[in-house]
Amino acid sequence: MAKSFYVTTPIYYVNDKPHIGHAYTTVAADILARFHRLDGYDVRFLTGTDEHGQKVEKSAAAKGIAPQEFVNQNSQTFQDMTTLLGVSNDDFIRTTEPRHKKAVQALWKKMEANGDIYLAKYGGWYAVRDEAYYGEDELTTSEDGKKIAPSGAEVEWVEEESYYFRLSAWQDRLLDFYEKNPDFIAPNSRRNEVISFVKGGLQDLSISRTTFDWGIPVPDAPGHVMYVWVDALTNYITELGYPETGAAFSKFWPNALHLIGKDILRFHAVYWPAFLMSAGLPPPKRVFGGGWLINKGQKMSKSLGNVISPQSLIEEFGLDAFRFYFFREISYGQDGEYSRESMISRINSDLANAYGNLVQRVLSQINKNCAAKLPVCASLTEADETLLAAARALLPVCRAAIDQQAIHKMLEEVWKVIYDANKYVDEQAPWALKKTDPARMATVLYVLAEVIRHIATLTQPVMTIASGKILDQLAVPADQRNFAALATPLVAGTDLPAPQGVFPRFVEKEDGAV
Ligand code: MSP
Repeated sequence: MAKSFYVTTPIYYVNDKPHIGHAYTTVAADILARFHRLDGYDVRFLTGTDEHGQKVEKSAAAKGIAPQEFVNQNSQTFQDMTTLLGVSNDDFIRTTEPRHKKAVQALWKKMEANGDIYLAKYGGWYAVRDEAYYGEDELTTSEDGKKIAPSGAEVEWVEEESYYFRLSAWQDRLLDFYEKNPDFIAPNSRRNEVISFVKGGLQDLSISRTTFDWGIPVPDAPGHVMYVWVDALTNYITELGYPETGAAFSKFWPNALHLIGKDILRFHAVYWPAFLMSAGLPPPKRVFGGGWLINKGQKMSKSLGNVISPQSLIEEFGLDAFRFYFFREISYGQDGEYSRESMISRINSDLANAYGNLVQRVLSQINKNCAAKLPVCASLTEADETLLAAARALLPVCRAAIDQQAIHKMLEEVWKVIYDANKYVDEQAPWALKKTDPARMATVLYVLAEVIRHIATLTQPVMTIASGKILDQLAVPADQRNFAALATPLVAGTDLPAPQGVFPRFVEKEDGAV
């Protein structure tokens, strides 16, 4: 049976418009999903929207429309982003769907049956914007006397009857779980953060609200709707058919990877495993807390007004360049600075000059000097063997990087081979062999075609369009583009189509577009 892989993005709040911070996590998940599919895994890839909560209720009211209508409109913008990014998700979940309500209520009942839910009165400082309570000691006071949370959101004193999840009782079991599963939280620095937070002591968590209606009703408790995070986190198992825990669940859940931003690590690495264990389910395999995209020194977010839409960048630079740039420029897991200058520089140096030029040089020489057929490979020199070996070593090297979600590392390794290949072209100078030693010229060009095939096959998850075009130009059949097919070399004598440039240089418009 094929190995399985289940990857999820956070489900996005519908009050926001999609920006490149959202797109970044979604593309990361897509790259991992595509990589695993090409590597022979059965893959399930889920993204979606988080649609309940007081903020949504208020935003809908401000627009004078019903919350359901509001979320329908805004969820669509995230579905459109998914399409725009060329993302291969298998499903798009919305927390307002009946299947999700069923799953959340079932999970609640299990936690309740386990004795982890109780009713009590609660008073606290609540920030609607963050959908979170803050301790008195975390607050500051603004000039006009308002209480402000560390996030900058205004808080108000709220008192309500609330159901609580007995999180305090889970402290030791969570610590034990982290110890037995050292790879549960990644990257490692984030793991340490979580462990020290849990060691610091856990307080019970208020998990129902009575002050608004726009949420999933708590079973048998009129007036109570669920706290958005109980609702939202459950999406990951709704997808697998929960409360059924049949074939899909047992196949994919043990290999679940949640990609998230570091801002929501605590919910995923502390609350979520506690909820699951309370309901008698195992936690996911791994939670990966990615860094933030920074724009001019600050996290990109709607409230700071420094967001960039994926659409504007894709329109200007193209989809492949967009998907490539973030993972070539930034170590996935760390914060990283977006800038237009570095994007242009990556496009011109890595794509046009290094990769594009390599492909162009090799394919046009084959076209001109080998009658547009894949040349015959004669005996190999040490230089040929070295370059081929580096290309063939890429699959295990990329796999190892992808197992750690180190997408940047995978690209770094691929680019090393691209640089080596360009150096090899210069050293071997196949154009000069045409008259003196055509058989040697053929071998050099064959070696290069084979190296390019490896690179294009392995970069398909990142550059979905260009890699396909390069494989077309090498006449690689559609069913020979998976990773297993890398072991079968190109067939000499195959007719090749006329080459065409794949990575154009980006030239700034005369009027200096900004
Ligand atoms: N709805 C919750 C998640 C529930 S998951 C069960 C939520 N939504 S969100 O839309 O506010 O943010 C979701 C994610 O978007 C963040 O965790 C992060 O992955 C991504 N990003 C939003 N802004 C970002 C940056 N500026 N940079 C990188 N990613 C960021 O939280």
